[in-house]
Amino acid sequence: MSTDSRPLDPQKIKAGGERIFGYIKGMGVSAMIYLGDKLGLYQALDGTGPVTSEELAQKTGLHERWVREWIRGQAAAGIIDYKGDERFELSPEIAMFLADSNSPKLAVGIFSDLPQRMAVVERLPEAFKTGIGLNYDARGPEGARGIERVFGNWYRFTLVSQVLPKLDGMVSKLQAGAKAADIGCGAGVALLEMAKAFPKSAFHGYDISQHALARAKENKARAGVKNLTFHDAKTDGLSPDASFDFITTFDCIHDMTNPAATIRAIHSALKPNGSWLIADIKSAPTFEENLEKNPMTAMLYAFSVMGCMSSALSEPGGAGLGTLGFNESVARAMTAEAGFTRFRRHDFENPFNAYYEVRP
Ligand SMILES: C[S@@+](CC[C@H](N)C(=O)[O-])C[C@H]1O[C@@H](n2cnc3c(N)ncnc32)[C@H](O)[C@@H]1O
Repeated sequence: MSTDSRPLDPQKIKAGGERIFGYIKGMGVSAMIYLGDKLGLYQALDGTGPVTSEELAQKTGLHERWVREWIRGQAAAGIIDYKGDERFELSPEIAMFLADSNSPKLAVGIFSDLPQRMAVVERLPEAFKTGIGLNYDARGPEGARGIERVFGNWYRFTLVSQVLPKLDGMVSKLQAGAKAADIGCGAGVALLEMAKAFPKSAFHGYDISQHALARAKENKARAGVKNLTFHDAKTDGLSPDASFDFITTFDCIHDMTNPAATIRAIHSALKPNGSWLIADIKSAPTFEENLEKNPMTAMLYAFSVMGCMSSALSEPGGAGLGTLGFNESVARAMTAEAGFTRFRRHDFENPFNAYYEVRP
């Protein structure tokens, strides 16, 4: 029994129970989305109209009894529409998030390393005690694949066509032949898109994750791209020779144990008229503002503990900025501290990220 002797408010008990059971429901439904993706069920449903569990089982080569339990649950969760008569349909609006691999809104990738994310949770009680977190390689190769799937389509459909044209003179520099780098490049999808679009430019990707670098090299080989090199940032980091025209960092500064050192290295690596494009999580400077304005704040803190802050504390003395920690005011202060003098914010219709064009 709780030792708190204050009288209990029945309304609050009811609301609290609904909230907690809502998260339990979310946990179960998340696991079912993982299975739907892994087993190709969403793709099999995409564009086929209403089907029965028998028809879906036949199409996917799975056992009908399991498919029936899964699809009824998906209908109860409001993901798949129940059309009556034991027929189920995936709407095109939901397919954009779960099935259509060419959709810029594809979100199913976030579920694809769910077991690896959850396995990491088992190691976190130790991190709470020691203060030392886990870097991205703790999630294994599937973790790197998951991140690639989360961010990949945004790069494929937005980066070259919509983002680069908004940056001061960057497209003409890249067309003419420039030197560019992506730090924290993950599986290298952003670089591949740029390397294909600008064959006269030379691109370099840096990361500390061995799993991400392995995927990046495979992706490069598959694409047959020649003007792209990947580097292990731990042993072969950016040289401070003011030789780069363009540097990008996508969703990674807040993950770094020493972001200030990376920001200084970027400053030293850029030409005096070079540019740095930052994408980082949209967040407000205070906890109170995030709490009030962003309905995703609970999810962002959870991802921080499971991933971003854990990575940013994965070495003793880590800065530990975490998912919400590199907001615009922090970015302005840290870039100014490193010697950058120009800072411009852009918005590219991304619900999670803010973009900053920063120049020496
Ligand atoms: C959330 S992932 C983003 C990956 C990639 N930019 C993307 O958008 O797909 C963060 C990446 O930052 C990398 N990272 C963390 N600290 C780093 C450092 N000091 N130098 C280079 N990369 C780092 C991690 O290994 C991980 O691949």
